[in-house]
Amino acid sequence: MTVYSRIIGWGKYVPQRVLTNADLEKMVETSDAWIRSRTGIQERRIVDDPDESTATLATRAARRALAKANVDPDNLDLIIVASSTPDYSFPATACLVQDALGASHAGAYDLSAACSGFVYGLAMAHGQIVAGLAKTILVIGAETLSRITDWSDRNTCVLFGDGAGAVVVQASDQPGGLLSAVLGSDGSGADLLIVPASGTRYPTTMKTVANGDHYIKMAGREVFRFAVRVMANATREVVQKAGLTLEDVDWIIPHQANVRIIQASVVRQLKFPADRVYMNLDRYGNTSTASIPIALVEAIEEGKLKAGDHIVFVGFGGGLTWAAALLQWGVKTPKPPLPWQKRIGLTMHYQLALLRSFLRRWRRKVIGFLFGSPDTETTTEKVSAHVDKLGDKVGDHVAKVSSKVYKKVESDKTTDTEQERKSQH
Ligand code: UT7
Repeated sequence: MTVYSRIIGWGKYVPQRVLTNADLEKMVETSDAWIRSRTGIQERRIVDDPDESTATLATRAARRALAKANVDPDNLDLIIVASSTPDYSFPATACLVQDALGASHAGAYDLSAACSGFVYGLAMAHGQIVAGLAKTILVIGAETLSRITDWSDRNTCVLFGDGAGAVVVQASDQPGGLLSAVLGSDGSGADLLIVPASGTRYPTTMKTVANGDHYIKMAGREVFRFAVRVMANATREVVQKAGLTLEDVDWIIPHQANVRIIQASVVRQLKFPADRVYMNLDRYGNTSTASIPIALVEAIEEGKLKAGDHIVFVGFGGGLTWAAALLQWGVKTPKPPLPWQKRIGLTMHYQLALLRSFLRRWRRKVIGFLFGSPDTETTTEKVSAHVDKLGDKVGDHVAKVSSKVYKKVESDKTTDTEQERKSQH
């Protein structure tokens, strides 16, 4: 049986704080007129709470996507977070998201392909699904670019914003979903868009900090030229690969970097109708890996996508990288909202995930304290397994109770509807 991979849920999260072009005029020598005419951006969202990070933005978007898909976090097989601004070099931000979601059966890893990362992530998820290695995968693009932006560099600080977008991808026997993908890279352009320091090439020193080498550096014009070329070529290629023509494509959702790049590539070069290219960069700026999923969510919310539509996602970024994916949209939108009982169940699940995470940290501390050396394996393992079992029992019990409550309410609802129907006859 042929297996397809379909998007069944979506969610976005952007921070509350809006940074307008007028605000930037007060920070660097720039003007609203310059930013609007050279990029199309009017404002962007920026985290202002020190407790927010890529992981927290990603988690919020993921929870919304799971609710929309009506998928329990426990049923996730894999979490992929595409990001250029992970919380740490390691552990992966995806692991922090896994913990916050309480996705107890999911593998988790980060994917680094700069702004092309979300489309790379979709392709990876598709591969896992058609290979039969996973059934349900969360793909997230999330960034807190404001933390690596040099707010005194007008060449870059006017461009970027923070945010996250997530989709749930699931195996299906219904034809559709991801039909083709194109992934590309050209490392000879690595220096054109880069954060030079803090990796192993230039570890953090007083000098790297003094030079501001932990911030984004970009050769704007070169990246612009590269972007126009690859966006058009990758779109053409991905359409051909799916055995379709550009006329069959209903929507292009491009990486939201610069309105001029989008116009010069897909609109002018490919002669694709501008009103079928979704754009929201005026409100969010360039959110890198998050830009395509955020745009997707808004296109859905605005009722633009219909079941059966062919959609191209196309992006480019540091690396240099590019990526395109062609999907046949299979979900009837709008989807009905989750019943309140299920929403409460999910909220309980997330509170429990926090508690479980807390208990696991403490268990490690207590075991370390009691048994010291890990060589006392048998005793440690016994205690550890016991505590694990106990924790899992409590977790399972709560999950069973909330699922019973949910099922009971659902069956009551069905009986009510049947009775209503009977009384009408
Ligand atoms: O996700 C991938 C991320 N990267 C990108 O998408 C970047 C792609 N590149 C671009 O979007 C454009 O190259 C920029 C928006 C970055 C710049 O636009 P441009 O039309 O290529 O401008 P430019 O770099 O050729 O600069 C034109 C002038 C320069 O002044 P001079 O040398 O002509 O006197 C810049 O110094 O504009 C000046 N300039 C600014 N002026 C006001 C550059 N940034 C600003 C600014 N405000 N923020």
